[in-house]
Amino acid sequence: MTITDHLTLTTIDDVWLENRRGGSSIGIGESRPRVSWATASASPVGSVAFELTREDGTVDLHLEHGGGRRLIEWPFAPLTSREAVSLRLRVVGDGVDSVWSAPYRIEAGLLERTDWHVPFVSPSPAEPQGELRPGYLLRADWDSVDPARIRRARIYSTAHGVYEVELNGAPVSEELLSPGWTSYSHRLRSQTFDVTEAIRAGRNVIGVWLADGWYRGRIGFEGGLWDVYGRDASVLLQVEITLTDGSRLDVPLTDSWRWSKAPITSAGLYEGEAYDARLLPSGWSDTGFDAQHWQRPVVLPFDDFDAAIEAPTGPPIKVTEVLRPISVEAIAGSRIRLDFGQNIAGKLRIRASADAGHTLTLHHAEVIENGALGVRPLRSAISVDSYTFAGDGVEEWTPRFTLHGFRYAELENWPGGIDTVDVEALVVHTDMERTGWFESSHPGLNRLHENVVWSMRDNFVDLPTDCPQRDERLGWTGDIQVFTPTALRLFGAHGTLSGWLRDVAHEQADQGHVPNFVPWIECGFPNHPTAAWGDAAVIVPWEMYRHDGDTRVLVDQYDSMKAWVDLVDDLTGHTGLWNTGFQLGDWLDPAAPPDSPGASQTDKYLVATAYHVRTARILAETAAILGRETDAAHYGAVAERATTAFQREYIAPSGRIVSDTVTAIAVALVFELFATEEQVAHAGDRLLHLVAAGDFHISTGFVGTPIICDALVRAGGIDAAYHLLLQEELPSWLYPVSMGATTIWERWDSMLPDGSVNPGDMTSFNHYALGAVADFMHRVVAGLDSAEPGFASLRIAPQPGGALTHASASHRTPLGLASSAWRRDGESFFLDVEVPPSATATVVLPGGGGEHRVGPGRHSFTSTFRPASQDAPKPPYRRW
Ligand code: BGC
Repeated sequence: MTITDHLTLTTIDDVWLENRRGGSSIGIGESRPRVSWATASASPVGSVAFELTREDGTVDLHLEHGGGRRLIEWPFAPLTSREAVSLRLRVVGDGVDSVWSAPYRIEAGLLERTDWHVPFVSPSPAEPQGELRPGYLLRADWDSVDPARIRRARIYSTAHGVYEVELNGAPVSEELLSPGWTSYSHRLRSQTFDVTEAIRAGRNVIGVWLADGWYRGRIGFEGGLWDVYGRDASVLLQVEITLTDGSRLDVPLTDSWRWSKAPITSAGLYEGEAYDARLLPSGWSDTGFDAQHWQRPVVLPFDDFDAAIEAPTGPPIKVTEVLRPISVEAIAGSRIRLDFGQNIAGKLRIRASADAGHTLTLHHAEVIENGALGVRPLRSAISVDSYTFAGDGVEEWTPRFTLHGFRYAELENWPGGIDTVDVEALVVHTDMERTGWFESSHPGLNRLHENVVWSMRDNFVDLPTDCPQRDERLGWTGDIQVFTPTALRLFGAHGTLSGWLRDVAHEQADQGHVPNFVPWIECGFPNHPTAAWGDAAVIVPWEMYRHDGDTRVLVDQYDSMKAWVDLVDDLTGHTGLWNTGFQLGDWLDPAAPPDSPGASQTDKYLVATAYHVRTARILAETAAILGRETDAAHYGAVAERATTAFQREYIAPSGRIVSDTVTAIAVALVFELFATEEQVAHAGDRLLHLVAAGDFHISTGFVGTPIICDALVRAGGIDAAYHLLLQEELPSWLYPVSMGATTIWERWDSMLPDGSVNPGDMTSFNHYALGAVADFMHRVVAGLDSAEPGFASLRIAPQPGGALTHASASHRTPLGLASSAWRRDGESFFLDVEVPPSATATVVLPGGGGEHRVGPGRHSFTSTFRPASQDAPKPPYRRW
């Protein structure tokens, strides 16, 4: 090997902190962030040199032995608040080192509470409840030092409400709806904005747009609640300037703050925003504006505020894509209807001119029903924006402080002619990195996968929510419990989820159990411990650990995990059988009546006890991983007891399950609840029978659906899994696709075959839970699975079927890109795999094609594969 080869092979070309690949490294909340790195090449590396350069020019070096690439403990002194450093890495070889990686800049945020030395300022400490409140503008100014003396300038800020910041007339960031929604009474996230380039000589002006948001606006269903977290809408904003000599200036803004009502005459996350452009004070966030007539805000001392202020762990909400309408149509009632071809979470951006005072109204809906926007499913989230023109030429506008779930929009009172460039749909959600892809020869399956991707995007709006359109949009625990493996396949969701889990722990401590959605608000939903929902406290961190191989989430969540299992153990009276109290069971079983979604065929307490076994086992394993041997033994015993209780109560000696449903058997199979192999075989046969007897239609709800295909595979029924997966008749995954769905629906029949909307009060067209099957598509159809936490080793075992002629999945694992792509040509089977650096893989070829162990890099395999019955009509499966 030549030296040149060596250099190209080993250069480190990506460095990141914690699990925040691609995320910002300014304002981080960790003083000892763990470091990960990647090379483009798969060659093994020996040692890695770390070089940390501080702003005073001092350099620290560290040599990391052992070949680790992931989450290497911070090898230097902890960062202090605001400390800015630059990190480079290089591979140290035998006699020759690689070139240094590009410098990676890291800057700590305000790490201590005492770093905050300004108060909150509030334009309006209280507003009457019951009607939408306006937005506010806040403004402060100061005289800057000569910009040539400035090394960097930062705004550290947060709000009670939602806010956007401007400096000298221009926005300081693209973040939307900051600071997002957390359990505000416990923790409020702050933002760090780099404004170095925007500071001017002389006068500088900070402007803040502020509205109620989640903090004070109406949230929740059944009428919702106002002022859930407080009556003040306020801003905490600290400007700091670091001079070239290293000294720091704190910009004194408190006395200079003034406020006025914004042109946003009303704003509600659910309701929409009304904006009167005539009311915009021209140049209000810039110099030259006279704010003398503006009012002084109320000053709310920082010490009166109890919650922790934290740096975000995940990416912010942003516009991630802009869509143009695929059709524009004039309809009755002087409205123009736009179809964006995709159901999204987002908002419109309009460009038009009209006379001053002309008001344009924007209506949104996910579907068209009976020739009109289908707005009934929105319930009280009416989703109507309005814009009143200032009358000064072409005006461009998008609402700031609202969000809608929609594919269709209607413009009421559009001035003049319209072009498709005049109205765009802005897709808005947490800006996560895409990490997983799937493709096959089946267009319906591909669209299904695409729909899962979209439903994830639309529902990761700062926290994992159930739906983006109606008066709900809550962090339902059961939904993300079943969806986490898929979420982690598709996007870098770790940061968002780990932040949300902190809130789970806080709310759990408050309520004495894991509430059914987090953050919890008392809007009428039963506040009781519920299986499969509360179990999220254990399963979500566990799935994150399995995906990332990072035990920190287990350490961080351990008390919460334990508290949940202890509580359920208590509820069973230490018998292991959870057979009392409120349960959601196999929620949205297709056999349940539209107005009674919890009326599943499967025994709710069977589901509850099965989940108790599952989470007690996970906790026992977690305790063992964390070296807590006493706990491991204790929870092992709790799990044993629950397993025995389940078997005694629900499994006949033959293996027949008392609740003779697809969900019940699937749960028992996938959660491994049977006592003997004979029982497993017997139950597997019964499952195959039931699924075939149901003509391969879905008969499962939230609990059974995510695991039914795996259960069928365990029962030896890969064919049945394909039949179910590719079924197009109602109820099935592909029925919505055949109806033109572009997202995953909440109900199998959210839209009925005649095009009418399901009459249930709860009918969303954008819920990710039933899309959890995408994980099966990656793992089993394409065959890309991990064999060890963090994908340190892979198992690539595609299971072709369903007459598919090719399928592939790729995933950016924590170690790099992995992929599995197969195709069939007659009886020839071809498989191409890619194994990331530092990983190994066991490749299992279908049809007895053998097993192969391979290392990093690309590998190709050929074998013979004779489909059994996949291409034949649906098999009878009458073996029971
Ligand atoms: C939500 C669901 C949730 C369920 C539980 C619904 O209103 O949209 O996704 O899990 O309630 O009751």
